[in-house]
Amino acid sequence: MDNSSTVRPLTTAEDLLKARQISAVAFVSPFDATKFTMPEPGPSQVWGYGDPLTSTMHVHDFGVWFDGSLVKCAGIGGVASLPEGRGQGGIRSLFASLMPKWKKEDIVFSTLYPFSHLFYRKFGYELVQRTHRYRLPMAALSVFPRPERVTMITQWNPSDDNPLMLIHRDFGKQINLAVLRKDAQWRVAQDPYRDVRYTYLIGDDAFVTFTKDAKPDADLYTLRVEDLAYRTPQALREIFGFLYALRAQYGQVDLSLPPSVPLTDMIPECYDVSLEVQAHGMARVVHVQRALELMRYPQETGALCIHVDDAFLPENTGLYLVRYAQGKAQEVTRERFGGRPDLKVSVQRFTQLVLGSLSLSQALWLSDVECYVDPSRLTPIFPKKDVFFSDYF
Ligand SMILES: CC(C)(COP(=O)(O)OP(=O)(O)OC[C@H]1O[C@@H](n2cnc3c(N)ncnc32)[C@H](O)[C@@H]1OP(=O)(O)O)[C@@H](O)C(=O)NCCC(=O)NCCS
Repeated sequence: MDNSSTVRPLTTAEDLLKARQISAVAFVSPFDATKFTMPEPGPSQVWGYGDPLTSTMHVHDFGVWFDGSLVKCAGIGGVASLPEGRGQGGIRSLFASLMPKWKKEDIVFSTLYPFSHLFYRKFGYELVQRTHRYRLPMAALSVFPRPERVTMITQWNPSDDNPLMLIHRDFGKQINLAVLRKDAQWRVAQDPYRDVRYTYLIGDDAFVTFTKDAKPDADLYTLRVEDLAYRTPQALREIFGFLYALRAQYGQVDLSLPPSVPLTDMIPECYDVSLEVQAHGMARVVHVQRALELMRYPQETGALCIHVDDAFLPENTGLYLVRYAQGKAQEVTRERFGGRPDLKVSVQRFTQLVLGSLSLSQALWLSDVECYVDPSRLTPIFPKKDVFFSDYF
């Protein structure tokens, strides 16, 4: 189906007002059209389907980290269809039209927070975000060192040498899909005294933003960490040491951490900690070749022959031969047909493997991963890696 005539960017006031109305009806939320104003031009674009419009989607242009490289990502939000337009392929047409365009623009990944994983899997997305959310008593933090210097951030001035932005950049480099935040994505309160949301720079290598949970629990509040970043394990320990100093007001701490942080081993009594793994965000590789070129590989010299099947974006489907050395791809070539791969996967599984959301050892539990060589030859290529993102769009 040629979708080009029915899929278009929405830029006029009339179209953007209609898009807001579609969204309001789809998400069953109130919207007063008399208060509509044109949005400021920003990094996101609204796309629509149908004449008259029935479906919309917001596409946000981000940079995200992937194995230490900064790559382009399309963040999807505001996916909505009018009730009377549902089931007519509006959202399918939007993805079908936009995805080849993203690939041409060298966008490597697309991410979203789904209402249903089954729905977005149809378009090649797969679950990649498994946030580790902890709740622990303040007392558990008594073992951590008190930082020498702590500075409250009372004004938010984005700039190239803002220490929080520099820390977040270094933190992101170690984590797949961490967003290189645009100014508007920072959650530092403009007025912490008014907003009861506090950000502290901890030494030179960490920061934390927290607020209190509305309901006091046994007279003591829960301290909810909304954002944090650190350059080193010692810097994270100092965040904990700082939070412990707040035990007069707060009885417990609620925080999310990248999966690789072994918090249950860092505190003396693991029975004190409750850990919930929240499986939520999805991603898809938009540009398979580019992902293979940028992925981190073992230090040894080696080769990988992988067949990727992308039913939704067939131009990605093919057999890829990677030669790698010293941790990097030396050459990635592609054949559309023929040849026997070491590994055959769907684009959904490929996305999980390159990001390290699943290691190959884990993926082999799934029935759709076909491995034609001794798996021990390939497991060092696809280890488990940290995937951690929480920026909303
Ligand atoms: C979810 C929603 C956007 C789907 O819109 P739509 O226009 O009906 O989608 P499409 O017609 O393009 O459907 C695409 C495919 O998804 C399937 N599908 C539609 N709604 C679905 C649902 N709720 N759950 C699972 N699959 C669904 C369709 O059957 C179709 O399958 P096919 O192409 O393989 O035949 C729409 O129901 C909506 O606006 N919901 C409320 C807002 C919302 O939850 N948005 C998502 C936020 S993450």
